[in-house]
Amino acid sequence: MVYSPGKPVPSRTPLPSALAGSTALLIGGSSGIGLAAGVLLRSVAARVVLVGRDPARLAAAVSQLRAERPAMAAGDGSAPGLAGDGPASNLPGDGPASGLAGDGPASGLAGDGSASGLAGDEAVLGVVGDGGDEATIAAAFERAGHVDHVLVTAGGFSGAGPLTELSADDIRGTVDSRLWPAFAVARAAATRLPAGGSLTFSSGILVLRPGPGMTAPLSLIGAVETLTRALAVELAPARLRVNAVRYGRIDTPLLRSLPGHGSDDEIATAGATTPLGRFGSASEAAAGALFLMANNYVTGQIITVDGGETLN
Ligand SMILES: NC(=O)c1ccc[n+]([C@@H]2O[C@H](COP(=O)([O-])OP(=O)(O)OC[C@H]3O[C@@H](n4cnc5c(N)ncnc54)[C@H](OP(=O)(O)O)[C@@H]3O)[C@@H](O)[C@H]2O)c1
Repeated sequence: MVYSPGKPVPSRTPLPSALAGSTALLIGGSSGIGLAAGVLLRSVAARVVLVGRDPARLAAAVSQLRAERPAMAAGDGSAPGLAGDGPASNLPGDGPASGLAGDGPASGLAGDGSASGLAGDEAVLGVVGDGGDEATIAAAFERAGHVDHVLVTAGGFSGAGPLTELSADDIRGTVDSRLWPAFAVARAAATRLPAGGSLTFSSGILVLRPGPGMTAPLSLIGAVETLTRALAVELAPARLRVNAVRYGRIDTPLLRSLPGHGSDDEIATAGATTPLGRFGSASEAAAGALFLMANNYVTGQIITVDGGETLN
């Protein structure tokens, strides 16, 4: 842990533009909310390192993000706050097409045998692996070289089912897939992030409104919320911040994998029952995470992005 005895957490503008030039590690960045966070981070000229298990999915995400261009590029006169401040905007391979020639989607991924995947200052990197594997997490930090913020969006609905019909192994597997990655990432991040760095976990509003058959996953997601608050206290002396976003129903591949949510029509029909008349977008969800990364005076908080669903 990098303690800063006597020094408070750094001050800086809390706007997302403050993330320009920083590096975010996105555990679960190859789809849904994590990928949308990558798009938003690239738009403010941040550097991103994605971690996911499926190599093809990860490669597609890396390729997509490499084609993203910071919305307010340095020196283009459109963004006074960013002029000249975007180290990431000077990165090779940073433009829509440049740097991609001959650079297949899978290049830059850990496990491809290339020791030069970081390529100095590439703006988008991918590391194949499980967020619960400490060696994968260490490799991701290593390849990034420097990480300011970590966002964990890895995790699905594993372990669903009536408690009495789950085996002990089912439940232990849910611990491994849902809670352990949060611990593994936290253990790695605690010793590597700089003062003012942040760790952001994912939760969901079902922790407040449990349905039957969700006992195992929801109790572990609830544990992630408790981990968030406890760790925020533990890491505050290092001036690290720990928060979580509690999502409502967000239109992502995960949501669309549920019965009755597979098509646009089904999503629109189901979403119409929510207070605001639709489900949230992955970008709207990810913006909550960017807020938590950027604002150096927020820690130990669980913020909700749910379109008002928990009001009902
Ligand atoms: N969408 C919603 O309505 C909703 C609501 C409440 C809470 N949430 C929570 O929000 C988070 C993000 O959800 P999402 O909708 O964006 O899901 P998603 O579209 O399925 O994306 C999840 C991402 O995490 C990766 N991933 C999953 N398990 C992993 C692991 N063990 N190690 C590394 N990567 C892993 C996936 O890639 P690979 O499978 O290739 O690894 C994928 O890139 C999840 O924790 C979810 O439970 C979502």
